[in-house]
Amino acid sequence: MRYETPSPTRWNARAYDSSFGYVSPVGAPLVDLLDPRPGERVLDLGCGTGVMTAEIAARGAHVLGIDGSHAMIEQAIAHHPGLDFTVGDGHDFTVAQSYDAVFSNAALHWMSRDPDAVIDCVREALRPGGRFVAEMGGAGNCAALTSAMLTAWREHGLREPELPWYFPGPAEYALRLEKGGFTVRLLEHFDRPTPLDECPDGAADWVRLFAGRLLDQVPPATVGPLLRRVNELAAPALRRESGWMADYVRLRFAAERH
Ligand code: BEZ
Repeated sequence: MRYETPSPTRWNARAYDSSFGYVSPVGAPLVDLLDPRPGERVLDLGCGTGVMTAEIAARGAHVLGIDGSHAMIEQAIAHHPGLDFTVGDGHDFTVAQSYDAVFSNAALHWMSRDPDAVIDCVREALRPGGRFVAEMGGAGNCAALTSAMLTAWREHGLREPELPWYFPGPAEYALRLEKGGFTVRLLEHFDRPTPLDECPDGAADWVRLFAGRLLDQVPPATVGPLLRRVNELAAPALRRESGWMADYVRLRFAAERH
């Protein structure tokens, strides 16, 4: 399995786990959709620190968690010593023995270089009839957050940042799945406003956590004012009395390999 990191370089794995929809109860319905059976072989693609991997394993399946980030996999191994994890690139992985299902939560949007290559790898990892069950950012995901970023960057005279995510619409992704050798059984596109519990400084903290690599290209003296401006621009849409909310939109699907 070749390694290439599709993820930000500066992961804060603890904050990522606790704040951004990895943990039950938000993740549990996706495991219900997967419906792992005792003894089944399941691949958790983009497993992060292994929270959902452990949830799947608790239902009796044999799970392998894969992630592009060494830091995430180190945490996964430390937190779940009985489970199998490996570093691997979603665009370019192969498996020795086929799987009954591939599962992925909040990870496919990071594999943005070539979504068809990811789907090809998933198909090749599955037995005929195997399931691909996943949830990712869908079209419109983080629209207020990213619009605030782009405006703030422009106002500070910076080059437009290349956002590292892929947020497809349902028709586009269904077509990719069908062309990639899958029958789509279910596809949902829905809003999921998500509290930014671990981001006391709101949108600015979200940018630091998830788009830290883009800040590396910003002159250090500009980072503070730039992020303050991101907060000003995003606040009308995302700041509530109870705190900041991310404007997440999900694409959830279940597909079957031909
Ligand atoms: C998401 O889960 O939708 C997401 C998280 C971090 C950055 C971009 C999108």
